[in-house]
Amino acid sequence: MKALVATDYGSFDNLKFAEIEKPVPGEGEILVKTRAVSVNPVDWKIVTGQRQGSFPAVFPYVVGWDLSGIVEDRGHAARRFNVGDKVYGYIRRPQLKDGTYSEYVLVPECYLCKAPDKISLKDASAIPLAGLTAYQALTVFGHLHRGETIMILGASGGVGTLAVQISKIMGAKIIAIASASNLDFLKNIGADYCFDYNDATWVEKVTEISPDLVLDCAGGETRDKGVPAVSKEGRVVSLTAREFPDKTINFTGMLVEPHSLNLELLTSWIEQGKLKPFVSKYFKFDHAIEALKLNQEGKTRGKIVVTIGD
Ligand SMILES: NC(=O)c1ccc[n+]([C@@H]2O[C@H](COP(=O)([O-])OP(=O)(O)OC[C@H]3O[C@@H](n4cnc5c(N)ncnc54)[C@H](OP(=O)(O)O)[C@@H]3O)[C@@H](O)[C@H]2O)c1
Repeated sequence: MKALVATDYGSFDNLKFAEIEKPVPGEGEILVKTRAVSVNPVDWKIVTGQRQGSFPAVFPYVVGWDLSGIVEDRGHAARRFNVGDKVYGYIRRPQLKDGTYSEYVLVPECYLCKAPDKISLKDASAIPLAGLTAYQALTVFGHLHRGETIMILGASGGVGTLAVQISKIMGAKIIAIASASNLDFLKNIGADYCFDYNDATWVEKVTEISPDLVLDCAGGETRDKGVPAVSKEGRVVSLTAREFPDKTINFTGMLVEPHSLNLELLTSWIEQGKLKPFVSKYFKFDHAIEALKLNQEGKTRGKIVVTIGD
């Protein structure tokens, strides 16, 4: 089977397509015929060496953590799904080895969840990593309550677009921070206030609103300027930093965990029409490296999806 593998850390030059053996499911494992994978910044950050040491790797490893596909085969006692079921999941294993950018993926069934019927299987691949991040950031780490105000820095990206919708479901007021070209889009998906991070007055405006929770999906200058706008008793959850220089701010860095029960909840919201992925571009598998490079430019609205099967 064909897979996209990384032979070392350092650059995109270490990525290549390889023919590897199609695996056979063992105890508790499912073999998934891949329909699509979505691009997450972590995929190219690991390849380019920015996460070196954070995740142990066995080279050459198959790239990618998001997956949607169809159950092809089941191992001993793997009975949560039937052959032919549509499934999806965030498959971050303890080490980088058997990723998802592959025609077939062998995975312990605990990582998987039945894919929603309401959206296509290829669009479903855009949900797991980004959706679980948004959900865990708002609930487990951010303790967002109905009626509170959340500010989402980098609201137009993969995590941000899902965080806007989940915040709405949770009954929060939403301040979305993005570039000018994404503000109407964010208003349309549920943001109450939208500000352009290139507008010199945005920090002053959001400080006046004084959000209860800040979710940082942006990093850099937007994070450093936006975080201090949090209310005095407020919380900050960051996807891009573990610490913040101002220690008086209640600041928590997080790493998303695979969690099929959380994913089931997101699936139910998708089925109810309350949550949906926004896929801005599809690539065929042969062009997966271009997809990763496009995401690296930092301007993806919603998600980029790489389709693998038919
Ligand atoms: N710790 C974790 O568990 C975890 C999980 C998921 C993601 N992450 C990290 O969180 C970040 C966001 O992930 P993602 O998947 O949402 O990324 P993404 O989809 O690639 O984000 C792209 C978005 O970033 C926005 N952006 C670019 N420059 C910006 C700036 N200066 N200020 C505000 N927004 C800006 C862009 O909006 P404009 O085009 O409008 O500028 C674009 O819509 C990444 O660094 C990723 O590695 C961490």
